[in-house]
Amino acid sequence: MKSKNKGTRGSKDAIAVKQVGANLAAEVSGIDLRQPLSDAEFDAIEASLVEHELLVFHDQGISSEQLKAFGGRFGELTVHPFAPNDGKDHALIKFENKEENPPVLTDVWHSDETFRLEPPMATVLCAKEVPEVGGDTMFVSMTAAYDGLSDRLQSFISGLEAIHDFKPFKTLFSDSAEDRENLQFFERKYPPAVHPVVRVHPVSGRKVLFVNPQFTIAIKGMDERESGSLLDTLFHQALIPEYQFRHHWIADTIAFWDNRSTQHYAVHDYYPKRRIMERVTIKGDKPIGVETADPASVHRAKYVAAVGADPHGGHGPTRQHGRELEQAK
Ligand code: SIN
Repeated sequence: MKSKNKGTRGSKDAIAVKQVGANLAAEVSGIDLRQPLSDAEFDAIEASLVEHELLVFHDQGISSEQLKAFGGRFGELTVHPFAPNDGKDHALIKFENKEENPPVLTDVWHSDETFRLEPPMATVLCAKEVPEVGGDTMFVSMTAAYDGLSDRLQSFISGLEAIHDFKPFKTLFSDSAEDRENLQFFERKYPPAVHPVVRVHPVSGRKVLFVNPQFTIAIKGMDERESGSLLDTLFHQALIPEYQFRHHWIADTIAFWDNRSTQHYAVHDYYPKRRIMERVTIKGDKPIGVETADPASVHRAKYVAAVGADPHGGHGPTRQHGRELEQAK
C-alpha cells in the first residue's frame, strides 16, 4: 500500500494519493475540485490516473459547472449520443434513477462508447444522491486482465481487430416512423468501429485487452463461431475478481477512470431506490494496436525512464504495476 504527498499548496492541503486496490484504484485527498486546478495539481492527477487507472475523490460538493470545468481541464468534453442529459448542456449526463425510471444498459461490463472511432479517454462520475444500500460500481483493470493471459493467447490476439457497435442502444428506439428515421441517422453517424483487440496505452505504453461485452460484436475476419468463442474467453478476463475493484458510493464522491485501460459495471441492485449521478466524458484518440504503435514513442520512453524497467515484464493478477512509477515521482 502506498501513500505519497505531492505538495502543491503547502503542507496543509497537499495532494495525497493512496492506492486502495491491488490492480487499480487510488484515493486522492488534499484537493478541492471546486477550485481550478493548478498546473502541478493537474500533472499529479493526470499521472496518477494513468498509473492507478481509477481515482476516487471524497467530500467534493461540486456543482455541475465545476464538474464540467474539472473534466474539461483534461480535454474536450464529448456528448454521448444516447445517454440521458439534463436538456441544457448535452455534455453533462444525468442518471436520475428511481422507481419510475429504472437504470438501464449500465449493468454490463464496458468501456465507455467504444462504438466510436475515437472512444473517450476518461470519464468523471459524481454521486449526487445514493441509496443507503447497494448501487456500487465495479471496475476492472484491462491491463491486468491482459497481463493475466497466457503468453500464447497474448501473442495470438496481438494482431487481431474487433468490431464495436452501438447495438445495445438500438433498443431505445421504437418502431415508429420517426424513431426508425432517427436510428438510421445514428447508424450513418456511428458505423461499426474497428479497434485493435490489444490496445497500446498512449501514455504508459502498456498493453490493454480492448474488447467488452457491451459493444464488441465480432473479431474481424474470423468465422462467427470462432469469433464468439474467442470473445467469450476474452470477456471472461474482466470477471476475474483479482483484476477488479468494487467502489461503494457516498454522496459527493467523484470517480475518475481511465477509459483506455478499464471497464466498469454499474450494479443495479438498489432499484427501486433513488440514485442520482452526474457524468462527463473526455475526448480520446483512435486506439493504436501492438503492430502500429511506435515502441519508441515519447510517452512510452518517458514511462520506461520513470520506472527504470520495462513495464511489460511479468504477469499475474496481483502485480502492482504502477508502484515503481509512484516511487520515481
Ligand atoms: C456508467 O457510466 O456506465 C454508469 C456507472 C454508474 O452509474 O455507476
